[in-house]
Amino acid sequence: MSTPKIAIVYHSGFGHTAVAAEEVAAGARDAGAVVELLRIQGPGDDFAPLLEKASAADAIVFGSPTYMGDVSAALKAFFEASSKVWATRGWQDKLAAGFTNSLSMGGDKSNTLGSIFTLAMQHGMIWVGTGLPPGNANGNSTSAPEAVNRLSYSTGLATQSDNASPEVTPPAGDRETARLFGARIVETARKLIR
Ligand SMILES: Cc1cc2nc3c(=O)[nH]c(=O)nc-3n(C[C@H](O)[C@H](O)[C@H](O)COP(=O)(O)O)c2cc1C
Repeated sequence: MSTPKIAIVYHSGFGHTAVAAEEVAAGARDAGAVVELLRIQGPGDDFAPLLEKASAADAIVFGSPTYMGDVSAALKAFFEASSKVWATRGWQDKLAAGFTNSLSMGGDKSNTLGSIFTLAMQHGMIWVGTGLPPGNANGNSTSAPEAVNRLSYSTGLATQSDNASPEVTPPAGDRETARLFGARIVETARKLIR
């Protein structure tokens, strides 16, 4: 059986979404995948190398901070650049998944995940959600910082950070949720490429 290849394409203006990306990568690596962490610096990047690396993966995970209730301009610019791949159906039937981090507990993160989902569907990709029950399912308070899936998202990974250093926020529960999400994407990829 070949080793699943996972590309994580993400933007992070201030380092918090980068923490989520690194935890997704750690979960995916622990599950046996080869992982490419592809960080977008800004909307003016040359996206050709990222598109090429993403195109070599079995699964592409897209991540963005939630800015003004949606993906950042930098990830949106990457999405528009991906129209070249769309034209040749280059990502057809690859796995796709999404994650976002924001300051508020809600903060309209659902809309950000919706934008990522739409991009994935335009490309003909196959969507992987968290596969996790809500954070309160095991008796925890949903908002307890150590609770897995404390924000209770199913469509994609949602993490929350306070206005503090990425070294301390998002909290432990969100980091663990991200690792479980990375592992789930690999397990799903393994089923498809068997
Ligand atoms: C331009 C801008 C818009 C933002 N809009 C939202 C928002 O709609 N909802 C929210 O909860 N937080 C919002 N925030 C807060 C960010 O989501 C939060 O600071 C997050 O940690 C940023 O992630 P990053 O460190 O990866 O850039 C916004 C921040 C900026 C700079």
